[in-house]
Amino acid sequence: MRKSLIAKVVTGALVGVLVSACATDEDASSVNSALKKTNKASEIWPKLDIEVKSDSAVEKKVSDILSTMTLEQKIAQMIQPEIRNITVEDMRKYGFGSYLNGGGAFPNNDKHATPEDWVALAEKLYQASVDDSLDGSSIPTMWGTDAVHGHNNVIGATLFPHNIGLGAANNPDLVEKIAHITAKEVMATGIDWVFAPTVAVVRDDRWGRTYESYSEDPAIVREYAASVVKGLQGSADKDFLSDQRVISTVKHFVGDGGTVGGDDQGNNVASEQDLFDIHAQGYVGGLTAGAQSVMASFNSWNGDKLHGHKYLLTDVLKDQMGFDGFVVGDWNGHGQVKGCSNEDCAQAINAGLDIFMVPNDWKVLYDNTLAQVKDGTIAMSRIDDAVRRILRVKVRAGLFDKPSPANRPLSGDRSLIGKAENREIAAQAVRESLVLLKNKNKTLPLSAGKRILVAGDGADNIGKQSGGWSITWQGTNNTNDDFPGGTSIYDGIKQHAESAGGDAILSVDGSFEEKPDVAIVVFGEEPYAEGHGDRETLIYQHGSKKDLALLEKLKSQGIPVVSVFISGRPMWVNAELNASDAFVAAWLPGSEGAAVADVLFGKQDFKGKLSFSWPSEPQQIVNKGDETYEPLLPYGFGLTFDAENVLSDTLNTEIKVSTDSNTPMEILNGAVQSPWV
Ligand code: GLC
Repeated sequence: MRKSLIAKVVTGALVGVLVSACATDEDASSVNSALKKTNKASEIWPKLDIEVKSDSAVEKKVSDILSTMTLEQKIAQMIQPEIRNITVEDMRKYGFGSYLNGGGAFPNNDKHATPEDWVALAEKLYQASVDDSLDGSSIPTMWGTDAVHGHNNVIGATLFPHNIGLGAANNPDLVEKIAHITAKEVMATGIDWVFAPTVAVVRDDRWGRTYESYSEDPAIVREYAASVVKGLQGSADKDFLSDQRVISTVKHFVGDGGTVGGDDQGNNVASEQDLFDIHAQGYVGGLTAGAQSVMASFNSWNGDKLHGHKYLLTDVLKDQMGFDGFVVGDWNGHGQVKGCSNEDCAQAINAGLDIFMVPNDWKVLYDNTLAQVKDGTIAMSRIDDAVRRILRVKVRAGLFDKPSPANRPLSGDRSLIGKAENREIAAQAVRESLVLLKNKNKTLPLSAGKRILVAGDGADNIGKQSGGWSITWQGTNNTNDDFPGGTSIYDGIKQHAESAGGDAILSVDGSFEEKPDVAIVVFGEEPYAEGHGDRETLIYQHGSKKDLALLEKLKSQGIPVVSVFISGRPMWVNAELNASDAFVAAWLPGSEGAAVADVLFGKQDFKGKLSFSWPSEPQQIVNKGDETYEPLLPYGFGLTFDAENVLSDTLNTEIKVSTDSNTPMEILNGAVQSPWV
């Protein structure tokens, strides 16, 4: 984590004194409270021309259902527990409107659950939800899951490159195809709803979720958001939410990619104009395309948590932009709102949250929310608005008419999971996502008929090349066997070498008997998700340069070195670049690692272009159009085989910033910085 826990505890009291005595925090939230008083979004926010129009038949059906519901049934629609913390009987008794599996949660807690196991659980919970014997309700529930680079929770599913790689491919049509494939693999497991796309526009690559962002450029994010929503849901005028489509969620509203220091769940201090121009463009694209849900963000805007931000959730998103779907919270995000806890947060509902994502404390939260409506803390009109939105999406998705999960057309169709055609699309995405940063003396493309040493701990490691949100939440504790049907980068190199009469020798530590003609070294970041990926600086392997040592050892033996860098973000790798004859940014390619070799051996040329500026300094946070810094390689850079190499072998490797733990902690900067309160 960015700040040591000890430091937090030790200075906690000091911070408390500082903040209470300091006007800054008051100034910041007074900005927001002034905005709140207007109840009117500023003209910065446009009215969107949303493709999914209001439909009188839908509205009538919603009103008819709403009119029959008790308060208890309405509150239950607004509670979303997690599968590890509910039973089928809980669902029968309460009739939750939806539920989720968090990253690393599986039916029967079995990481190797089969598609049939997923369908069976969906069926049981669905049947319990429509059983009105205890709660008097027969409203079908729905299951939400993080299928963020394919159906990444399920063994054997196709794992596509993470969003940062797709951004480098800059191919919206391909991304729409990927989303549609993902929808079908998700439906094969009986699930209705996907918490994707992430439409963060990341401005500080130290954020652990940089790889979930398509680009630092809001224009790419806006275009991609529309493509992914259409791929997942279908188009309004075609097969919208048909048997081949799932509900999509644009997330995390708003400003998650622009926190101070890239702190996960931190504070975004952008002006309102920048909040719209940079961080909200994914919502312009995704909501216009008809995304039916928005997930509220953990971050704050000028010190106020988004989960409790009435101005942004209601005045801006719903009233001004015209969003008529529902807002779902993020994993107990409501509990971070001032004065709230995981079990008690009227503030979030009053601000415009429609569904609490409350993985474990759902029973107390249900009781408290019920009481808060009864005592007037939450107006009945707010509850009715939230439930109307939830029912509207369910009616639009045909949930009241579709068969139960087990009886839907794609449910249980194992052939859809990791289907060869799906993997080929993933392989295409891998090939198009690779960015060639350096190519001295035209080292690439390689001749496959040579003696090729394949080194590095990423060479034969499907888990490493897939990154976070891959089977497990963090993407760790996996082996290649957890990715049946997938291929490692070494697999592809071996295939090319052998078909050309060459030889590919796997040697993770780079040792060899017979000197190779060339060495391909696959190395990079270990998988991570969310805050676990937050970093103090962009220095790769700061303090333990083991991969650099491997590169330099090979180079010192006169062996041409091709580096394939696995990472969730651009990093400061000047030393590693100096030790490489060719250097490929491979990002997080997913389960089809073999496709990397297709480009290394010239089956197709490099196409990828940087969708994130590449830093020339360890601390450099540089973005497109940013005059402050000269990046090492600018946004949009990417060599092809014939392009002139632009990087020398003598890039600066001196670390000028102090990265020790004495770096002054950022507590106050316009507002109290997360995680300080
Ligand atoms: C996580 C993430 C969010 C995800 C949710 C459910 O904390 O922030 O992206 O959809 O919880 O897993």
